[in-house]
Amino acid sequence: MDYQQLLHQAMATALSAPGRGRPADYIPALAAVDPTAFGMAIATVDGEVFGAGDWETPFSVQSVSKLFTLALALAEGGEDADALWRRVGREPSGNPFNSLVQLETEQGIPRNPFINAGALVVTDRLLELTGDAVGAVRDFLRAESGNDAIEVDDAVAASEARHGHRNAALAHFIASYGNLRNPVESVLAHYYAHCAMTASCRDLALVGRFLARHGVRADGSRLLSRSEAKRVNAVLLTCGTYDAAGEFAFRVGLPGKSGVGGGILAVLPGRGAVCVWSPGLDQAGNSVLGVAALDALTTATGWSVF
Ligand code: DON
Repeated sequence: MDYQQLLHQAMATALSAPGRGRPADYIPALAAVDPTAFGMAIATVDGEVFGAGDWETPFSVQSVSKLFTLALALAEGGEDADALWRRVGREPSGNPFNSLVQLETEQGIPRNPFINAGALVVTDRLLELTGDAVGAVRDFLRAESGNDAIEVDDAVAASEARHGHRNAALAHFIASYGNLRNPVESVLAHYYAHCAMTASCRDLALVGRFLARHGVRADGSRLLSRSEAKRVNAVLLTCGTYDAAGEFAFRVGLPGKSGVGGGILAVLPGRGAVCVWSPGLDQAGNSVLGVAALDALTTATGWSVF
């Protein structure tokens, strides 16, 4: 399999697409990104990595981090992993990622772990289990990618905190239903910081391999049982790209998680992981060229979970 050539073809197809979307600006620090940046990388289950474009440039992972907090909260929960699923659902929300509307009728139980409301509950759970949710995510990313330079961009975290009225509203509302164990301020601080982690396509593709390996980490140890890894992949497929998850499954056919930094990490079960980055977003907050490149790659290769 000539991965390098496949990446270059997917990149060329994506770059020829008519529109690119616009970078997120509701977190002011993110608006400074180069809108023309594009990177893509594949990491295979046995540790080979291939890349194209700006594949080694770090970017703000944003909601891609929700995948790691979920996996780590389940892993740290051990025997009690299912306790998380009593506090957060696993149905697509059909609403934007930062919506508040369902929380009241559903008594403070967020629809799924990837909308902001659900991710706040997952961060709270990870904080409860480890005492340091940000540190847990950072250590995991460093260990799986082999890149010890992965770090929180404090300016991005602070910028989001200053403009984070919606997330603060969500967290307080969830707390009013008794579904947060830590103070709202701590949960928000850990959430903003893990979203503000910077990593490259190379790094994230290497990290994503644990889901392609059905829960097994780079060092051969098991993070998740095979069944839990299946569950995480299933929620990624149905909820990982918010109310565009149907369109993403239709076009790409893989479990994937997007972030408003423009990154998308997709899992090729048994084969590896692909990460693509282009900052221009569509209405749902997913990278326009990122989806186009994954569409081109999976259409050319037939890779899919279907
Ligand atoms: O909470 C937020 O709004 C951001 N820190 C993360 C949102 C995000 O990345 C949504 N993804 N496409």
